[in-house]
This record gives sequence, structure tokens and C-alpha cells, in this order.
Amino acid sequence: MNKNPLAIVILAAGRGTRMKSDMPKVMHPLAGRAMINWLLDTCSQLAPEKIVVVTGPDMPELEAAVKPYETALQETRDGTGGAVRCALPALKGFKGDVLILLGDTPLISKATLSSLIHAKGDHDLSILGCVLDNPTGYGRLIMNEDGTLNAIAEEKDASPQEKAIQLVNTGAFCVDAEKLEGWLAKLDNNNAQNEYYITQLPSIIAQEGGSTAVAVIENAGEVTGCNTRTDLAFLEKTLQNRLRKTHMDAGVHMHDPDTVYLWHDTQIAPNTVIEPNVFFGPDVNVETGVTIKAFSHIEGAHIDQDAIIGPFARLRPESKIGKDAKVGNFCEVKKSTIGAGSKINHLAYVGDTQMGENVNFSAGAITVNYDGYDKHQTTIGDNVMIGSNVNLIAPIEVKGGAFIAAGSTLADDVPADALAIAREKPLIKEGWSEAYRKSKKAG
Ligand code: UD1
Ligand code: CA
Repeated sequence: MNKNPLAIVILAAGRGTRMKSDMPKVMHPLAGRAMINWLLDTCSQLAPEKIVVVTGPDMPELEAAVKPYETALQETRDGTGGAVRCALPALKGFKGDVLILLGDTPLISKATLSSLIHAKGDHDLSILGCVLDNPTGYGRLIMNEDGTLNAIAEEKDASPQEKAIQLVNTGAFCVDAEKLEGWLAKLDNNNAQNEYYITQLPSIIAQEGGSTAVAVIENAGEVTGCNTRTDLAFLEKTLQNRLRKTHMDAGVHMHDPDTVYLWHDTQIAPNTVIEPNVFFGPDVNVETGVTIKAFSHIEGAHIDQDAIIGPFARLRPESKIGKDAKVGNFCEVKKSTIGAGSKINHLAYVGDTQMGENVNFSAGAITVNYDGYDKHQTTIGDNVMIGSNVNLIAPIEVKGGAFIAAGSTLADDVPADALAIAREKPLIKEGWSEAYRKSKKAG
């Protein structure tokens, strides 16, 4: 392993026009987290002396996202070589290796970066290559017979023979800091895009008698660049597979992992079952023994041991589901605490509620928490029975052990162990239906 001091420059000034987005390209999320932050995380694991992110004008959200790392502004987007030049002042006085990475290639792994640094050895530059079935859009690596690199041909400048080369530039470079400035001064923009390409470095180095080593990586997924929404979807898939594997390795049983969508911060304890088609949004914590049944949508929820969620359940932010509790099909819970052993099994809405233990919240019952202007709180004690189709008009408190008869609409508090029944007395007319049928048949 090369033990030189390390600095990292990340190029992120491009607008990403091919994304057709209002957001800078590197701010697009993967598993809910901006691309650039995934890359910064991996970079920080290499413990470099400094990380410099090259940003463009009018990118306040990017500046904010990369804090506390240093940024360098590229006023005019004149190419990847121009971008690296903008980082030079930040590298002043630094001696060692500089890793140059593309902000739109966020899933590159620490191991791969280490192998690129290692490959540099005594060469002037090392670059990371990859063999692709479809190399279209990437710079092609034109190799010398001794395995060093002669030049890189960009897609728009490549001849038909060069376009047939499947070994491509992934965009990651490792270069000697002290030589970088001199080489960058030699870049020209005599190319199809009139840009200063960082990819001109290998040919400049070759002309000066230096050498560029190529480290070739097998795993195309981690070095796929994001230029279009289709690329973004591919990266998401790659990352989701990685996250799923991490969870499964940690003891989570997924029947059909391809259909489970995870957020970057999803926490799931071992000995849990996640059925097919489950979505995890931000800030979810699942304790051991929990089963999440198919087609559930979960955000901002803490689910305690052995609880059963779903199928078709929706847990919204600030939900706490107690031990052994159940939230079943077509039930929505929002900003509520559900006590241990309580059951909300079918077609119910529970919002802004503090629910005790062993409550039965029956089919079709809801908390009426919103009056059109404000949200109001519902409190339900332990061992309460809420019958089917009950409306609890908040603010309201149903004390422990109370029984609310089915179909009741209540706006007043209910004392402990009481029965509350609020329905119209039925009107029953003997024989009416039969008489009605006969009159209809007679015309
Ligand atoms: C680049 C490489 C290509 C490589 C491919 C790998 C060049 C000229 N081409 O092409 O060889 O195969 O990546 O994915 O380097 N950027 C700036 N300032 C600029 C232009 C770009 O900071 O003026 C940043 C962008 O934000 C982006 C990265 O550099 O993160 C790459 O730019 P992009 O335009 O996507 O380059 P590619 O055409 O993909
Ligand atoms: Ca790119």
C-alpha cells in the first residue's frame, strides 16, 4: 500500500444538463441521500489530509451539502481539466498523491480507490479503467503494449476504431501533487467540445516520457457515471442491492429483496422478517422479532420487538409501535404512540394519539384529529375496547378499561371502565320490506 499523504479533489461543478433537472446533478438522491454525500463518506474513510469539492456558480444547495469540506469555485464550466485547475489553490503546499474523482460516480468503493492509489506506485499517474459491454459515452483507453496508457479518446473525438474499444475511463485518477500544476498548464481545448479535458493528461505525460498505470475494475456497477435519469435509476438499483445485502448479512430475512426499498438510514435488527414490496422512508428503526408484511409503507417509525405490521399498513412520521402490537391492513398511524399488545387490525386511522397497552381499535374506527385548522390530541388508556366505526373527535380522552360501542361518534371524554354508546335508536317496521317488494312487483 502506497503510504503517501493523500488529498482528494471531487469534480461537481457540472450542471448535469442531460438530467433535465433543476437540481445540480450530484445533489440527486440515492436511497434518500445526495450522491455527493455517498462519495464524501467513502472518501473520508481513506482519511485524506484534505478533500476539495469543485462546485459551480449558483449551487447553494451543493455548498451546504458538502460542509464541512472545502470547496473551490469553477466560475466557467470549461471541462474536467478546467475544474481540477480550480482546485489548485486549495492544494498549494500539499505534497503527496491527489485522487481526482467525479462527483457523478458516487458508488465507487473504498477498496477500489485503495487499489487505484496502490497502482500509481512509481508511475506519474494511475487511472481506473473498466471493461464495459456498452462503452458508449465513456472515454476509451488506448493502451501501449507494455500495459501503460497512451491516451484517452473521448466519445465525441474518438475514431470508429477507438469507439470499438471496450476498456473505458471510469474518471478516477491518482496523480502526483507536485507535478499536477505543470501538466494542467499544458491542457488544450482543441477537441469536439472545446473543453479542457482532464483525460488529456495521459498523453501529455506520455509525450514527456512519463507513464500512466491503469487499474482495471470488474464491477461496472460501482463505477457507473450518472449522466441521465436512466443512469440514476441504475445507480439506485446498485445501491439498493448493496443495502439489502448489508441488512441480510446482519440477520434480516427478506423473502424477495429486490422488492424491498431501503432508505440510507433504515435500521433493522436481526431476526426480523420483511415480506415483499415494503418501502422504508427516512428514520425507521425496527426492533428484533418484528414482521413487516407485504405492501407496507413506513416512514419515521420506531417499531418495537415482535410487533406485526401490515400487510398494506402505512406508518407515518413520529409513530411508535409498541412491543407485540399489530397494525394491520389498510391502517394508517401518524404521530402516535401505540402501547404494547394493542391491535389496530383493519381499515383504521390513528393520528396524534397516545394509545395505552392492550387496546383493541376495531375495523373502521378513526381518530378525528383535524378541525380544518388545527390538529388535536386523542388519549386512550390501557385495555380500552374501541368498537367498529367509532369516531373519536379530538381533543378527547378515553380512560383505561372503557368500552366504546360500535358506530359511536364521541366528542366527550369517557371515564375509566365506562360504556359509551352514541348511536341513533333504530326504527324497525315489521313487514315493511315484504310489502315494498310486493308493491314494486305489482308495478
Ligand atoms: C467523463 C470523462 C470520460 C469518462 C466519464 C466517466 C472527461 C473529459 N471525460 O465524461 O472520459 O469516461 O467521465 O463517467 O473528463 N465537471 C466539472 N466541471 C466541468 C465539467 C464537468 O466539475 O467543467 C464535473 C461534473 O460535475 C461531473 C464530472 O465532472 O461530476 C464529469 O463530467 P461529465 O460532463 O459528466 O463527463 P462525462 O461526459 O461523463
Ligand atoms: Ca459523467
